Amino acid sequence: MSDDKFQSKEKKWKAAVEKTVERFPERKEPFTTSSDIEVGRLYYPENDQEYDEKLGYPGTYPYTRGIQPTMYRSRFWTMRQYAGFGSAMETNKRFRYLLDQGQTGLSVAFDLPTQIGYDSDDVMAEGEVGKVGVAIDSLKDMEQLLDQIPLDRVSTSMTINAPASVLLCMYIAVGEKQGVPFEKLTGTIQNDILKEYIARGTYIFPPKPSMRLITDIFAYCQNHLPKFNTISISGYHIREAGSTAVQEAAFTIANGMAYVDAALDAGLDIDAFAPRLAFFFNAHNNFFEEVAKFRAARRIWARIMKDHYKAKNEKSWKLRFHTQTGGSTLTAQQPDNNVVRVTMQALAAVLGGTQSLHTNSRDEALSLPTEESARIALRTQQIIANESGVADTVDPLGGSYYVEELTDQIEKEVESYLNRIRDIGGAVQAVEEGFMQREIHRNAYETQKKIEKEEEIIVGLNKFTLDEEVNPDLMKVDEELEKDQIESVQRIRADRDQAEVERTLSAIRQHARNEDSNLIPYILDAVKVYATVGEICNVLREEFGEYAG
Ligand code: 3HC
Repeated sequence: MSDDKFQSKEKKWKAAVEKTVERFPERKEPFTTSSDIEVGRLYYPENDQEYDEKLGYPGTYPYTRGIQPTMYRSRFWTMRQYAGFGSAMETNKRFRYLLDQGQTGLSVAFDLPTQIGYDSDDVMAEGEVGKVGVAIDSLKDMEQLLDQIPLDRVSTSMTINAPASVLLCMYIAVGEKQGVPFEKLTGTIQNDILKEYIARGTYIFPPKPSMRLITDIFAYCQNHLPKFNTISISGYHIREAGSTAVQEAAFTIANGMAYVDAALDAGLDIDAFAPRLAFFFNAHNNFFEEVAKFRAARRIWARIMKDHYKAKNEKSWKLRFHTQTGGSTLTAQQPDNNVVRVTMQALAAVLGGTQSLHTNSRDEALSLPTEESARIALRTQQIIANESGVADTVDPLGGSYYVEELTDQIEKEVESYLNRIRDIGGAVQAVEEGFMQREIHRNAYETQKKIEKEEEIIVGLNKFTLDEEVNPDLMKVDEELEKDQIESVQRIRADRDQAEVERTLSAIRQHARNEDSNLIPYILDAVKVYATVGEICNVLREEFGEYAG
């Protein structure tokens, strides 16, 4: 390759840097070590054609070294702690506490009744209201959840899947009440039903109508909410269910391809929806494998989007992801040890180029986090960002013989899984046949056997144990909450315009029967007149049926 072509990749990167720093100037000028040695933006071999072809530059295809030309030198990853419990008011208090403590993005945990489309006064909700997340029945709860939070400045992730369309509409309605133009609303809706069938379990409807609801959100957002990420294609829960790092990356990417196929089948243009696809991965214990997993996943997705789907917009090629440190690695024994685990896992996510990060709290193997534990988890990120220096140069592990070999190896093994899934007929078929579930359960079983045989050491659990465990103070959810929440949703029903609710619910029913209709506008009308999550989901249950699993 001639010098000028060789230079073009490096020149392209340098030009991208110039453009980026206009909107995102670098944090320091210059970056230095404690010995005043200047820290360069990127380290790479000059005039090395193999490097240029293979690894390339951050912010340029295939993004192995990161999706932004300057990465964290311009902007740290979003510190986005997953939070939610009890009532909307209680969670709003925790949200505002975390924002005051320096968190830079919101992440909503909903309780199980909300996640599977039941109101707090439904018999199916008994004993679960406000337990693993915040109880949201109607727009009133969403207004309280987001009280005093400026939606034109804060991006919000919502971990909601089967009823994602309903909660998205409530979020839009609160934005409207705050006077925020739709195009300024930023955030992410998880909206990933396939991993619910595979690993997490909060599904309601069968695959076909579920995929329709998902692509309805794609279509609506590309026209009305251009800054909103329409899906967070998740590997986190696949890993939590016991998969390997390779399976996590492979099954997530396969699911991503299924969503792209569904959107194309729905007639959407790839470069209109693909830039707003996002991902969500786990950061587990094997440090270098996790770093390599993120780098391999970025390169694979870039190639799939550019070569297989022929997307033309560079934003369609970039795998942007959130990371949560591995919940299943936390031990109930010696909970303070978890701060060390979370720190290393968070470091792997940062060195792997994450865009957003949640760090688990030390007590989460025992209960929802106390305020103090949640603060330590956030401080962990702030210390990595501001004190360790790892954010001062781009992809510092790039070029390491081990990391690059591991990245290549993981890439190869992920590709072979993708071929197997393609031969089955794609991710939806593979899920329905139980292929991914079997692969995950086999590895989970093997891992558990290794722990029991002490071939895999978990400090404090099967080695270096204590005779007497100290029981830490744990977070308590107010037992009165369920009763209060039931009264609240019944008051909403009593005070609202019931005729309007009936009208909007029947419009949802009518349009649910027409596959060419986009349901989002009708769900938005319904939430605005305080139709509840349960009422809307019950109409859809009647029309779509329920997935038997
Ligand atoms: N140079 C140039 N531009 C930069 C930059 C840089 N260095 N850094 C950031 N930017 C720009 C970005 O391009 C973006 O601008 P754009 O929207 O115009 O493109 C803007 O700054 C914001 O940056 P990001 O989009 O990178 O960061 P966000 O935090 O807004 O988004 C995301 C990150 C991964 C894309 C998004 O999908 C996200 O926030 N996901 C979070 C998902 C989440 O929190 N999930 C929790 C699930 S909890 C769960 O399920 C587990 C439970 O079940 C146990």
